[in-house]
Amino acid sequence: MTRNGICLLATLIIVMTSSWVTAQGRTARGQVLYDEHCAGCHGLTGKGDGPNAARLTVPPANFHTARSRAKTDFELLTSISYGIAFSPMHAWRGKVTDEELLELVRYIRELAPFTPSL
Ligand code: HEC
Repeated sequence: MTRNGICLLATLIIVMTSSWVTAQGRTARGQVLYDEHCAGCHGLTGKGDGPNAARLTVPPANFHTARSRAKTDFELLTSISYGIAFSPMHAWRGKVTDEELLELVRYIRELAPFTPSL
């Protein structure tokens, strides 16, 4: 391929990825973070059935349960930020940015919406 061809290809890739990011918006970022850091335990759809779940003594939370869905965003944010004592659920504050912590909460809510009356 010629040098010009390579430049054109590189430009196209940059343009395509940046418009993808804008079009998908915030939740897509939450999903990318979730799939990378959380799905191993919580499962891709948040049912607590990720590939690593079987070897944990404390099972990962299933976000679709009434118990989880009734929790406020603030409660979820606190668990993600500071972790849960005596559990494999570690603190994520400082490992991802504060904005990303909020995006993770938003994505969990998209998988399993807040339902206080369940
Ligand atoms: C090593 C496995 C593991 C990983 C990785 C993990 N979690 Fe957890 N998570 C758990 C376990 C286990 C619990 C349940 C702890 C308990 O009930 O004591 C939990 C609980 C939670 C809760 C509380 C839910 C509720 O209903 O109270 C939230 C929210 C949560 N995790 C979000 C996340 C997010 C977001 C990530 C990724 C940034 C993540 N977790 C990564 C294992 C994990």
